Amino acid sequence: MRGNLLVVSNRGPFTIEENNGSLKYRPAVSGLVSAVLPAVKKIGGTWLAWAGRIAEKPAEVQAVIKDEFQFVEILLSREEVEGYYEGYANGVLWPLCHLMPEKVRMYEENYRIYREVNQKFAQKAATLLRTGTLLWIHDYHLALMPHFIRQKNPWQRIAFFWHIPFPPVELFTIQPWAEEILRGLLGADIIGFHIDDYRENFLRAVERVLKLPVNYEWGTVYYNGREVLVKAVPIGIETKNFQKEVPEITEIEQEIAGLKIFLGVERLDYTKGLKEKIQGFARFLEKNPEYRGKVKLLQVAVPTRENIDQYQTYAREVLAEAAKVNERFGDNHWQPIKILKRNYSQEELIYLYRIADALVITSLEDGLNLVAKEYIASRKEPGVLILSKRTGVARQLNAALLVNPYSPEEIALKMKEAIEMPDTLKKKSFSLLKEQVILKNNEWWLENFLGKELRLMDTGFGKYYRKRGEKKVGAID
Ligand code: G6P
Repeated sequence: MRGNLLVVSNRGPFTIEENNGSLKYRPAVSGLVSAVLPAVKKIGGTWLAWAGRIAEKPAEVQAVIKDEFQFVEILLSREEVEGYYEGYANGVLWPLCHLMPEKVRMYEENYRIYREVNQKFAQKAATLLRTGTLLWIHDYHLALMPHFIRQKNPWQRIAFFWHIPFPPVELFTIQPWAEEILRGLLGADIIGFHIDDYRENFLRAVERVLKLPVNYEWGTVYYNGREVLVKAVPIGIETKNFQKEVPEITEIEQEIAGLKIFLGVERLDYTKGLKEKIQGFARFLEKNPEYRGKVKLLQVAVPTRENIDQYQTYAREVLAEAAKVNERFGDNHWQPIKILKRNYSQEELIYLYRIADALVITSLEDGLNLVAKEYIASRKEPGVLILSKRTGVARQLNAALLVNPYSPEEIALKMKEAIEMPDTLKKKSFSLLKEQVILKNNEWWLENFLGKELRLMDTGFGKYYRKRGEKKVGAID
């Protein structure tokens, strides 16, 4: 193990499955993991997370060395998963932050469990901290953890990155626990969001709810005698991971022969606007009959959070919507929509990105959206990106065809524009998009969000724990 970094997140880099006493490690797929994994691999250290295993006995915790960092597993009981993960994190914070208060389900009991699980993560993390360790906590599942660590270790350096949108204060305070969540986060020394809007929403919430003076320009809050720095730095991807050669997926080859392909790659989540995309595509087929039989919407729909009611309902509704469109426009030889309802590996996704004429993202609200960046990074030939204005990444990728996901009319128009776009224009906008993705890559994100902290870790006490003769990391140096 090299660096002195401790990363903590709910979902780790792997999910672990137990099979006849032996453990199977499967790479976990999420925006958080694809952004944080390269950083941890570069710097080294420990990653503490839940690996999806449910166990009532806390004694079975695993610690393994993988990819040159140490992975330490937290086990959760069924009750903890229901209260903390499904109940409060995904039943309150997730919909609130994505501006969907009608989806919120508030139960005091779930919040109590959320608090306890945050304490449990903090207690485990405390046993892994050494002098000079930089603690880096991630996402809305662990908002109270910085506070719990600060209570015990007042001098600990703590960074926190919030990966989803942060809503306006009027919405955030619908829940009775807003104040405690804000105080929890302010236990950190540095807090990151993807874009300025979220950073401002957070600062305004701190100002209104906690009545603390904040400096919007500098992004600083003085809290309990410390200065907390709040930054907006959108995550970037490691572009070289998307440039490799990948095999074909045979069953897809047959599906797409001779057709123009619109691609969608989403978890089956109600924030992703899958129904809206399908309705927009139906409008496109209605208005442009000449394209019937000549185009297809390939929609990867990854099952997610399947124990939660709203997700089960949503999955059913998406499939029903697609079936309706296939029935209305399709025939024996051609079905306009193909839903691919499973998990796809990175290699399979690269293949899909390369065969698509346009990637269509219609999220109703989306913290950033890394799929847009992955599409751009994977393509050998220019491709078209239709991108919801309501994604964080739309601020960076404004050379895309931006669309209002609530308007089927607009989606239909942009789909037509995408497949009729002249090559010169396609090339031009694609190279602008590519420039952004390459320039604002994973190293850029790490350096801009955490560079100073990492150097502090290197020059402070941390250096005494570094093995002699070890090389430091590229972008950080
Ligand atoms: C998305 C969000 C991340 C979040 C993750 C959780 O990828 O962008 O911020 O951490 O979902 O997914 P999970 O499958 O663990 O519920």
